[in-house]
Amino acid sequence: MALRTLDSLGPLSGTRVIVRADFNVPLKDGVITDDGRIRAALPTINDLINQGARVVVISHLGRPDGAPEAKYSLAPVAQRLSELLGKPVAFASDTVGESAADAVAALEEGDVAVLENLRFNPGETSKDAAERREFAEKLAEFGEAFVSDGFGVVHRKQASVYELAEILPSAAGQLIATEVDVLDKLTEKPERPYAVVLGGSKVSDKLGVIEHLLPRVDKLLIGGGMMFTFLAAQGHPVASSLLEKDLLDTVKGYLAAAEEKGIDLILPVDAVVAAAFAADADHVVAPADALEDTPFGADGIGLDIGPETQKIFADAIADSRTVFWNGPMGVFEMPAFEAGTRAVAKALTEVPGLSVVGGGDSAAAVRQLGFDDDEFGHISTGGGASLEFLEGKALPGLEVLGWER
Ligand code: 3PG
Repeated sequence: MALRTLDSLGPLSGTRVIVRADFNVPLKDGVITDDGRIRAALPTINDLINQGARVVVISHLGRPDGAPEAKYSLAPVAQRLSELLGKPVAFASDTVGESAADAVAALEEGDVAVLENLRFNPGETSKDAAERREFAEKLAEFGEAFVSDGFGVVHRKQASVYELAEILPSAAGQLIATEVDVLDKLTEKPERPYAVVLGGSKVSDKLGVIEHLLPRVDKLLIGGGMMFTFLAAQGHPVASSLLEKDLLDTVKGYLAAAEEKGIDLILPVDAVVAAAFAADADHVVAPADALEDTPFGADGIGLDIGPETQKIFADAIADSRTVFWNGPMGVFEMPAFEAGTRAVAKALTEVPGLSVVGGGDSAAAVRQLGFDDDEFGHISTGGGASLEFLEGKALPGLEVLGWER
């Protein structure tokens, strides 16, 4: 069954419409460092404004424990949304209390209000369906229709993602519709060769996606902190680099499966090894099978893929017609260790087919490194959600909107 889209809700002029966005943006000292997820929500919000709806936007931010915590307030997000929309946005200092009720009641046609962080309320993330339902019923009082557009949370069975969509007439917004459309292309008959590039710190975060994708891709490229568990599984010493010892057997299984199925599992041939995990640490390039043969010996820490690997990865990516990338290749936040991530990002911009950047970290990385969103086929706003989509898992927040694989 297909996703119910916005037009299925009929004309919305004058209607109070609740929009579930994913405004879980990175913040540093109260300042938003990447507003990509707010920008991604604009098409749906603008569409509703133009239709003359009264727009109530809800979201989570971070993982507060069911109670207010100032550092997770959505106030800076409401401010940024107002700047991006070029119009005032009301902000309620609670989610279902007096402030929210007042802000919603004051909305005129085409007005927008943002309510405070959903996760300041225990009902939002409760494991108990009745508690979630109770919280969703309170939220539902603020609208006559519900538009789900927070793609980053569709893998969560939470009150504002799932139960609210059951209570009110509901549909997917433009962001979710686009994400599903693009990610579906990666799972249903991708144009080949199909390459998947995985990075980020931990293999344990990627087990499901590796297992599911290994038989489906032509090439699997592994970088980032997780590469060291792969190198160790090949029998190479990795000095003090990140290593998930308990996953060595699992990773050996992946290496064997790739060989058996004829899948090109491409591992780094060199790495940037540093004396310490610090932006100004001394560092050298070392071959992947000699990571301890540096001036830092067994204390060395691998913090990026090396230049030879960058070339190999760029060639493998350029030779593909479909590429999905999730996870930075190194500690891109530190300029000395950003080159690998930059090289992969650059290669993705040159893919003669569909290139998809998935995951909060990778999306933040490409923007921090100065790439424009439109240099890529698609930048997914989902981290866990896009991985679970590609793993073929059931996604409650999509199923409740009528979607079936
Ligand atoms: C994300 O950042 O991936 C989404 O906003 C979901 O956040 P969560 O993992 O805290 O549910």
